[in-house]
Amino acid sequence: MSIAYFNGEYLPLDAVRISPLDRGFLFGDSVYEVIPSYGGHFFLLDQHLQRLTRSLAAIRLPSPYGPTQWRERLDGLLQRNADPATPDLGIYLQVTRGVAPRDHAFPGEVRPTVLAMVSPIRPLPATTRRQGIAAVTAPDQRWARCDIKATTLLANVLARQAATEQGAQEAILLRDGHVTEGAASNAFAVLEGVVVTPPLTATVLPGVTRSLVLDLARNAGYPVCERDLAASELQRADEIWLTSSTREVLPVTRLDDHPVADGRPGPVWQQIHAAYQHAKSEAHTSASMLPPEGM
Ligand code: PDD
Repeated sequence: MSIAYFNGEYLPLDAVRISPLDRGFLFGDSVYEVIPSYGGHFFLLDQHLQRLTRSLAAIRLPSPYGPTQWRERLDGLLQRNADPATPDLGIYLQVTRGVAPRDHAFPGEVRPTVLAMVSPIRPLPATTRRQGIAAVTAPDQRWARCDIKATTLLANVLARQAATEQGAQEAILLRDGHVTEGAASNAFAVLEGVVVTPPLTATVLPGVTRSLVLDLARNAGYPVCERDLAASELQRADEIWLTSSTREVLPVTRLDDHPVADGRPGPVWQQIHAAYQHAKSEAHTSASMLPPEGM
């Protein structure tokens, strides 16, 4: 049984008890982060904590801890879950507006509920590296503030389930004929040598992986463009990728049951995937996240 952090204590995950009056449970009144760690070292922790601060501010929930206190608590969690069999762990961290009698308006006194727990991150399977994954397009039925990393994810759940039922691993969400992002990932396309991803608006989560992948692509010499991406452009894309902290950079080789280009992971993905692995391995040995020029 893994160890969780819950409101100031470390305890076995199955010993955590959450009140039915918790506003995270009743209203989805909460925000979260998923933070990867490799071999006991966090990857891009500062960026995740900055986004957490932003999400908390957006829902007007004062942060229970400052960056140093967060880091100490999450370090404690990693140490308590150290296991050579699962060296790479994703930390799921959730902060809710706490327990109060059910009423939509904020309670007078707020004591946030804080939960952090771990689950293993597995390396990208060799078959995925060789063959890529399938994705489907689906209507984006989410609310108007998808830039907040909120736990109110019902529309994402339904979109991912629709993908699963069609034999695909992810749904690419479309709003007004344009790509917003994946159900739990950011979306990229390579079009005539340019790496394109939708701009950061209220309908897109500012993905930590998205930001790193943009830097890696620039550093590798590719032109990058944050612009609206029409659904029709996906059909003629040379490559499509999906990025997230737990699934890194995934090559999409089938979209809506049609091959993407020649149906194999493309050369730009190969290069960015390699650069991403390099950034991971460098993360705890160097301050720089970027591989050498031209990698
Ligand atoms: N989700 N967009 C959405 C809607 C997401 O849920 C996620 C990640 C991303 C990618 O963000 P990042 O690169 O910072 O992980 C984009 C996490 C992994 C999850 O819900 O499990």
